[in-house]
Amino acid sequence: MKFVVTAGPTREFIDPVRFLSNPSTGRMGFAVARAARAAGHDVTLIAGPVSLKTPPGVMRIDVVSARDMLRVVRTVIARADVLVMTAAVADWRPAHCASRKLKKMEMSDTLHLVRNPDILKTISRQRGIIRIGFAAETGTPAAEAARKCREKGLALVVGNDVTEPGSGFGTDTNRVTFVTPDGNVQRLPLMSKLAVARRIVSFAERRAKGKE
Ligand code: CTP
Repeated sequence: MKFVVTAGPTREFIDPVRFLSNPSTGRMGFAVARAARAAGHDVTLIAGPVSLKTPPGVMRIDVVSARDMLRVVRTVIARADVLVMTAAVADWRPAHCASRKLKKMEMSDTLHLVRNPDILKTISRQRGIIRIGFAAETGTPAAEAARKCREKGLALVVGNDVTEPGSGFGTDTNRVTFVTPDGNVQRLPLMSKLAVARRIVSFAERRAKGKE
């Protein structure tokens, strides 16, 4: 199968020296790319600014902003079977990005923001792509994951509580909950991000064979 995986944060620039972003390191997405490739799939990895090595055999495209990420996803999705959105996409961007460094004196205390496009929602459901999303929450993720699964029409949402020890940003482990549109909730024990990634890949494989 052909997997498209997004990873890492996006950066939304205010001027050439300032941006809005989040603490995502890209580890979960790189693990999904590695696991999918190891299982024999064709993998395109679209990465925000991260400092990780590309897994062997994976085609990587680097992006900066949410809009860049959407553009690249749209380009590569045409022949894809699975889209795994692990990226922590910034929900807003500054309404204007200055072309030169803004001086303190000329900046106001209020930053005008506009909504970024929702990449998962934008990619059409009709083509039969298996779309998998993440829900990074502070607190029990199952209810939020179920809402995102319904609202975005996803095959699977992988929820985690980023405040829990061993889970979330920058760790090598994760404790996740798999939520599917039929309301099924599967809480997995704390495991390596690579082990979580293998579960996600095998979910997609079973789903493609009509077994999920
Ligand atoms: N996502 C996306 N495009 C965005 C924001 C998020 O495709 N602009 C994807 C993420 O990659 C993730 C899923 O949607 O797989 C859920 O992201 P999250 O930020 O948790 O959800 P939001 O839709 O932003 O919802 P909320 O702010 O209500 O938590």
